[in-house]
Amino acid sequence: MSTKTATKKTWTYPHRHLLGVESLSKDDITHILDLAEGYIEKNRQIDKKHVILKGRTLINLFYENSTRTRMSFELAGKRLGADVINMSVATSSVKKGETLIDTAMTINAMHPDFIVVRHPESGAPYLLSQKVNCSVINAGDGSHEHPTQALLDALTIRRKKGRIEGLVVAICGDILHSRVARSDIMLLNTMGAKLRIIAPPTLTPADAHLLGAEVFHDIRKGLKDCDVVMTLRLQTERMLGTFIPSIREYFHFYGLDYEKLSYAKKDAIILDPGPVLRGVQIDSDLADDIQRSVILDQVEMGVAIRQAVLEILSHTLQQ
Ligand code: CP
Repeated sequence: MSTKTATKKTWTYPHRHLLGVESLSKDDITHILDLAEGYIEKNRQIDKKHVILKGRTLINLFYENSTRTRMSFELAGKRLGADVINMSVATSSVKKGETLIDTAMTINAMHPDFIVVRHPESGAPYLLSQKVNCSVINAGDGSHEHPTQALLDALTIRRKKGRIEGLVVAICGDILHSRVARSDIMLLNTMGAKLRIIAPPTLTPADAHLLGAEVFHDIRKGLKDCDVVMTLRLQTERMLGTFIPSIREYFHFYGLDYEKLSYAKKDAIILDPGPVLRGVQIDSDLADDIQRSVILDQVEMGVAIRQAVLEILSHTLQQ
């Protein structure tokens, strides 16, 4: 008999930071989603507390507005037992002219374990990660990436549809300025979904085909037989100039309503990362239709995903 014992291959997250989904394998994504599953039920209980981050410190550093991402990172950190500080950029020394790097090095000197950063410039979280000793999590950088949004979208889809592989997913709206679209396209492609983007030519990135998505300018053709439809708001804060003739015309051609949705599969679900601009990217009644819309499920999954991300990154921290 062989003296060798079978060794079970254990998965470990191969990075110190979460800066984007580009570097995540199918195996990495599956492990994060599986870990998040375990948090969902606990978050529905009266006692939501864990101690795995006891003694750890998380700093939320948001240079752009946020409701969902900032609050869910705060909840995730607190439920895992960490101390969480929300740095108010608007009332900080950033307003006196302190640079991102100086701010990062100042925070680093206080020995945090995690910095969660949202910034209007693409690449800012990467830059910050080069200057600090702790884990950096990208909470959205310019029009580049929003990795935890893509993970929570994948978890929402997997729970609602039972799988991701082989699903046809259409992302509709302002793709050009959307970090959510970029991260979702990459992550869902990695998981084996078939991606489509639907947008007017002015809001379609020139390199859209390189992202691995089929491009449609006619929403009815783009929605045909889709399993999942994701709507995106117009990112006016990133627009230099005019990209649409008017909101009314944009909603007429690209706003999702029941008539346009009828081209998708009968059981197609609707996602939107929020904030939802009713009557712009989606009809108000449809956004509230719990037979089709899973927008609030996405919010719930957001906390669980952020707990899972903090847990895996905590294994890479100094013990
Ligand atoms: N989806 C998302 O990033 O929402 P917030 O801007 O409210 O964080």
